Amino acid sequence: MFSSRTNWLLTPNRLAQAIEELRRRGRPLLDLTESNPTRCGFAFDTQAILKTLANPQALSYEPDPRGLLVARQAVAAYYAERGIALDPGQIFLTTSTSEAYSYVFRLLADSSDTILAPQPSYPLFDYLAGLNDVGVVAYPLIYDHGWQIDLPTLAKRLEARTRAILVVHPNNPTGSFVRRRELAELLAFCRRHDVALVADEVFADYPLAADPLRVVSHAAITEALTLTLSGLSKISALPQMKLAWLVLNGPSELLRSGLARMEIIADTYLSVSAPLALALPGLLETRRTLQPQILARLTSNLKLLDARLSSGQPVSRLLVEGGWYAILRLPSIRTDEEWAMELACKDGVLVHPGHFFDFGSEGHLVISLLTKAEVFEEGIARIIARVANAV
Ligand SMILES: Cc1ncc(COP(=O)(O)O)c(C=O)c1O
Repeated sequence: MFSSRTNWLLTPNRLAQAIEELRRRGRPLLDLTESNPTRCGFAFDTQAILKTLANPQALSYEPDPRGLLVARQAVAAYYAERGIALDPGQIFLTTSTSEAYSYVFRLLADSSDTILAPQPSYPLFDYLAGLNDVGVVAYPLIYDHGWQIDLPTLAKRLEARTRAILVVHPNNPTGSFVRRRELAELLAFCRRHDVALVADEVFADYPLAADPLRVVSHAAITEALTLTLSGLSKISALPQMKLAWLVLNGPSELLRSGLARMEIIADTYLSVSAPLALALPGLLETRRTLQPQILARLTSNLKLLDARLSSGQPVSRLLVEGGWYAILRLPSIRTDEEWAMELACKDGVLVHPGHFFDFGSEGHLVISLLTKAEVFEEGIARIIARVANAV
């Protein structure tokens, strides 16, 4: 009856089952995985947000495959603030980056073609690629005085069926940005093997410190066909609005052909509603009051974490350059899943085990730096106590 691409394991894993049971029994839990910004106590400008959704122009239908021009002009203005000049014709609105990924895979890959994607990274890639009949081949990020792309291994994994190299900038959950020298090599691979570069920049506005060695945005790249994804879910902390975009850039001939093909893909769906497209300029503006609050939360939680993880502790954290997550390093006397189970069941603390993001080795837990300060502080204290107790 069903397609083989939907042959997923449909039962919840052991950890999810245990958490469900704890919740059912009414056990109070400190959720250090909370990354839904609408539940983290930030002050949203409710009036301004709701006002953007009541534009009378939304009552007429003006179909445009790329999405309404006024919205794309606002996206172009967002990039112009980063020193990147884009024509609104290079921009396509989508309902989410997930939808943008579908457009990208449909544009670039035939069934059984592959994309190279970082590991560890965003767990949804396997599903997004699988739903579009595209295979994922992982290339490792290695942790050696900070995270680096393992370029020699990436080069070895490029194959005839590879259609794109995917970068996440900064990556979820490692918080690592692509550096300029890494980009130069990636572009050389793209040109040599005739593959596209796909850049997911949803967290790009959340660097924890400036670094001139990092790429500003992949949206500016013209040396290879480049598709850059971003959207309101992280930029304005509004995941419920379901509004994202895709920017195409590249060498002129390739770009022209890519844009014409993408136009037909987008025209087939015409997916972004007029009320939301009309709201986009205003919703993007709300980032100016939201992002400072989020950056303050990320920084203060990280500071608190560092204050608690003094040297000599059996728990440490990996370097993080940006994004919403921190990675804890624990002794590998238990698997990540066992640590996460023990913390949930004995201490009422929820964390993500590293394998959720496909870490290459045990000993990693991922926590959200968006968590409210009081929950974060108590959760960290319990993690440290649990590990100290176990070693
Ligand atoms: C790397 C990455 N891309 C995309 C998304 C989701 O974006 P959207 O809500 O626009 O689909 C997430 C969400 O956590 C993410 O981590």
